[in-house]
Amino acid sequence: MKLTLAILTISDRSSRGEREDLSGPALVDRVREEGWEVGQTDIVPDDFPTIQATLSRWADSGQFGVILTTGGTGFTPRDITPEATQAVIDRPAPGLVEAMRAKSLTITPHAMLSRAVAGIRKQTLIINFPGSPKAALENLEVVLPVLPHAVRLLENDPRAEEGHRMPVDGK
Ligand code: MTE
Repeated sequence: MKLTLAILTISDRSSRGEREDLSGPALVDRVREEGWEVGQTDIVPDDFPTIQATLSRWADSGQFGVILTTGGTGFTPRDITPEATQAVIDRPAPGLVEAMRAKSLTITPHAMLSRAVAGIRKQTLIINFPGSPKAALENLEVVLPVLPHAVRLLENDPRAEEGHRMPVDGK
């Protein structure tokens, strides 16, 4: 199944050009390796209204099955990605972040410090990832196999039924 995703990097320093964004491009490369399309990318500061406006604009465009964000999920005072995401979603999808944290805890105890959330706005699934390229890719690896089935369900595609019987190979 061909998915179209959008990838949003959330970082004050990268948005000002003071730090190269490595996480956004790393996610783009990994998504393309699956044969999926990246229809949109951007870098925005850790600013609530900007994150909220970007996520809702992208989701409401109806162009993307999935929006991935990277950055701003930790504990510093500027980390507000989860709150901005929470503000735009219609329905939470906690299973994705539960799985991400469970797997990530086998890699580092710091996984407890990611406050990432996932949820659905209209027909788009939004998932937060941490900011480092390593962490973003590790988390993407966890959810990657379920994304095609998730998008089929969101589209109410009758073929989604097959996914309930299939082993999770994501195809
Ligand atoms: N998850 C995985 N899989 N691997 C990691 O290296 N780093 C953690 C955590 N989740 C990490 C991870 C760290 S150090 C932090 S502070 C939080 O994600 C939040 O990261 P963020 O503030 O960059 O969003």
